[in-house]
Amino acid sequence: MATDAMQDIAVDMLTEAQARDELSRLASVLTAANQAYHTEDSPDLSDADYDALKRRNLAIEERYPQLKRADSPSEQVGAPLAEGFTKLAHSVRMMSLANAFDAPEIEDFDRSIRRYLGLADDAPLAFTAEPKIDGLSLSLRYEKGILIQAATRGDGAVGENVTVNARTIDDIPQTLSGAPDVLEVRGEVYMSHADFSALNARQEARGGKRFANPRNAAAGSLRQLDAEITRSRPLKFFAYAWGELSEPLAPTQMGAIERLSALGFSINPLTKRCDGPTEMLAHYSAIEEQRATLGYDIDGVVYKIDDLALQARLGFRSTTPRWAIAHKFPAELAWTRLESIDIQVGRTGALSPVARLTPVTVGGVVVSNATLHNEDYIAGRDATGAPIRDGKDIRIGDWVQVYRAGDVIPKLADVDLDKRPPGSERFVFPETCPECGSDAIREDGDAVRRCTGGLVCPAQAVEKLKHFVSRAAFDIEGLGAKQVEQLYRDEWIAEPADIFSLKERFGSGMQQLRNREGWGEKSANNLFDAIDEKRKIPLGRLLFSLGLRHVGEVVSNDLARHYLSWSALINALDAARAAAVRYREAEQAVTRERQAAAAEGRRAKLKETRDGCWAADPAIPAEARAAWDELIGIDGIGETVAVSLVTSFGQPTERASIDRLAACLDIQDAERPASDGSPVAGKTVVFTGTLERMTRAEAKARAEALGAKVSGSVSKKTDIVIAGPGAGSKGEKARELGVEIMDEDAWLALIGA
Ligand code: IVH
Repeated sequence: MATDAMQDIAVDMLTEAQARDELSRLASVLTAANQAYHTEDSPDLSDADYDALKRRNLAIEERYPQLKRADSPSEQVGAPLAEGFTKLAHSVRMMSLANAFDAPEIEDFDRSIRRYLGLADDAPLAFTAEPKIDGLSLSLRYEKGILIQAATRGDGAVGENVTVNARTIDDIPQTLSGAPDVLEVRGEVYMSHADFSALNARQEARGGKRFANPRNAAAGSLRQLDAEITRSRPLKFFAYAWGELSEPLAPTQMGAIERLSALGFSINPLTKRCDGPTEMLAHYSAIEEQRATLGYDIDGVVYKIDDLALQARLGFRSTTPRWAIAHKFPAELAWTRLESIDIQVGRTGALSPVARLTPVTVGGVVVSNATLHNEDYIAGRDATGAPIRDGKDIRIGDWVQVYRAGDVIPKLADVDLDKRPPGSERFVFPETCPECGSDAIREDGDAVRRCTGGLVCPAQAVEKLKHFVSRAAFDIEGLGAKQVEQLYRDEWIAEPADIFSLKERFGSGMQQLRNREGWGEKSANNLFDAIDEKRKIPLGRLLFSLGLRHVGEVVSNDLARHYLSWSALINALDAARAAAVRYREAEQAVTRERQAAAAEGRRAKLKETRDGCWAADPAIPAEARAAWDELIGIDGIGETVAVSLVTSFGQPTERASIDRLAACLDIQDAERPASDGSPVAGKTVVFTGTLERMTRAEAKARAEALGAKVSGSVSKKTDIVIAGPGAGSKGEKARELGVEIMDEDAWLALIGA
């Protein structure tokens, strides 16, 4: 399985690193196809193949939005190449939205906002609800009432300058009267169904390419290098948000939208203010009922907190606002037969069952694979042992219902027991790794069974190597997934460190490589140079490259910025080991207690269990506990990440492999983030006691947004302790250590809030 060509791996099975590589491959294939189609007038791909690649690209982007490339083919449907547009940096990032799929998730959304803001369950909290338009977003910048710039979303930070094209759209005013001096209006460019059909008819009559859907047609039409073509395409625009403003538009979302309407923008007439989840869900149903007759595509309903002061308090996660959510329409469903179940082994040893299906069309896309998640899922239980699908298990030969949640990852919704073939048997999940035969075990609390073979397992080793050379990791030119697989198969490399001794070991023999299929044009010497070039590696990147469970790019960089050097990081992880091991045991004991209590129908003694083996355990050396506290005190590093990190570095074979690698490298220290004028940037702060003007979560998010590090425990490294009433031992410890202590008001004054 590990040696599957990337294009054969189902989208939902791609690891992040594979997805990145695949997006890169698709970008070049599709760009070449576009070129052939538009400039050479000789398509080298059939329309069906082109569309299939396009869909695959889109599906990967939807699954991994963070990997979407600036030159993403999904943004250049039928359009000339992207290079023609200059780039424009957005003064305020263009965000995307978190998704929800059902009523409980919307209720959760309301609850989590209340929790964040410290609002009581019955305190009034209003939202707006409006259709989610299926088009492409556009940011329009007006200065002193004049449209000066229009930019696509791009990667959120930098978009494409499509000003000339945007000026051809009737819904976009060229001038405004009575607008703030600086006003960035954001909204969706879309094409109506009627205009889409007429455009496709015209395209066909001219022998041009038909667009797959109105969204692609809108994107392709806006992103024309020749704005006259854009002018001939009937694009429309709904305003629903804003970026930079020199003064507020209104105190509420609804008010701001009405103001935009008064300024001359089209706003969606189904935008409604709602008093809470019940009204929001009712409006969702009303919109869903009208969906077919609206005349343009929508794919859900967006809810936003109405009060803009609350929006400001809630702020953003890395790519999405906390104050908004997209409630997507349900996925399309189809029945088909489950032909077999394959088990794929990933980088971290996870055994992932994949359903191989008789191909079936779901919402216009042919689906032949679906994820089966894990063995419990196949058996008809969730992680807590509660039945799913009414407890129906999934068997080979079953008729299963497939759906694409969020229009992307195919999953199974149901099994038709009436059509179950007689004599079928429950699926027996392997207890050994199908790739290496090692035991595959499930630890308490882990939903996934994992191969224990470590680097002995070829699947794990290859997946780790592929991750290691992927773009966000070592990114060695000429050494991609394919080449690494080949080198592994030929036993030239078994682990990352081996890459750096290739020249030494095979310098002359590398000649053979040149003649190999898949090796490309790169000569062996170029490859050796490319490898040498990457010996110098930033700490965060190295850490990410190791491919440890739960240690992604963001976590790696957070760790690097905290510990700064490889040796400091290693020392800290080694120091924390005794605590991490104990913590993990405690978590496992808690899981067992939870299961036992559920089985015996009694209340679980979770606190006692945890305290018994962790919180109050005197056997954990103080030094280990301090190192552990420091680690989990880092913003973004929770216990799960910490346990994975510390145990991976503590696992002897894994560690030996890491040490061998580190010895080949020149690891660059990280830098603390620059202060940027914020009075608390780079400072480590601890909140303790009761906060009265904000919740803990809000305090933490705000401090972090200003560049401070928020830690959970007071140490010599703490700069400020913000102590509210009831600050107990942490307050005392701060006094002992002579750390600056202030109250909440002083803190708010300090950060200028
Ligand atoms: S609000 C900060 N409202 O959906 C929040 N977005 O999946 C900005 N979209 O990138 C987005 N209709 O392109 C918002 N009524 C609506 C929308 C909408 C469509 C798009 C937008 C965004 C994407 C996120």
